[in-house]
Amino acid sequence: MKPYVICHMMSSVDGRTLTGNWGRVKGMGAYEETGSSFKANAWICGRTTMERDFASGKPLKLRSNGKALPKTDHLASLDARSFAIAVDKDGKLNWEKASIGGDHLVVVLNEGVSSAYLGHLRDKKISYIFGGKRELDLKLVLEKLWEGFFIRKLLLEGGGHLNGSFLKAGLIDELSVLHLPVADCNMGAPSIFEDSEGNKVPVSKLELLKVKKLENDVLWLRYKVR
Ligand SMILES: NC(=O)c1ccc[n+]([C@@H]2O[C@H](COP(=O)([O-])OP(=O)(O)OC[C@H]3O[C@@H](n4cnc5c(N)ncnc54)[C@H](OP(=O)(O)O)[C@@H]3O)[C@@H](O)[C@H]2O)c1
Repeated sequence: MKPYVICHMMSSVDGRTLTGNWGRVKGMGAYEETGSSFKANAWICGRTTMERDFASGKPLKLRSNGKALPKTDHLASLDARSFAIAVDKDGKLNWEKASIGGDHLVVVLNEGVSSAYLGHLRDKKISYIFGGKRELDLKLVLEKLWEGFFIRKLLLEGGGHLNGSFLKAGLIDELSVLHLPVADCNMGAPSIFEDSEGNKVPVSKLELLKVKKLENDVLWLRYKVR
């Protein structure tokens, strides 16, 4: 079993998502508001998004005590009811706290990470799960989130590369996009879905579920992913 996955993003009218390029645009506040209307108890982001917006900017200094830690999933909090999930397979991010805005942090790793990095997460009381030996199996990751953390609805909140991986794996149930009244036009700014592998990707067909005009000229579109 897997959680119901809603990819929730805000984009320019040309589908770009680097909000930092836009300066002050009215209507950005609608992102949190519409996101919380889904009543999901978890959200997930890629390593780059977590690095830019949530992890510590300080360099990671790992201390090894020479002890090998098992490459098994680790649940650091039995009380947590809401979760922030970071896809950081190689264990690059430096975390200072076990939660983001009250949501317990869970890191998705591969089995190549060092015991010293696992020790870093354990010291901070951060949970972690393994999603594969080298590459991540996102279906397995979702099954573990369902089983181990009781996550039934998950907001997939970017960036474009993580969204693209979920889309290609056929794991997105719904797409929720806020179109802000801005045309970006910057080459290389990630769009809502990106492919890292550069192969030809089959298109995904969508079915429009709902259209709503919000304040400040924001358009909220919801699609079912077929
Ligand atoms: N407009 C919005 O609503 C919105 C929402 C979120 C983010 N953003 C913006 O988007 C930008 C980042 O987007 P992005 O597309 O460049 O990066 P991203 O998706 O946040 O992160 C990409 C990284 O996540 C890891 N990753 C993704 N898919 C993976 C998979 N299948 N298996 C293993 N690891 C995987 C990889 O990390 P490694 O390189 O470590 O392997 C990859 O390089 C940020 O500037 C952020 O502010 C905008």
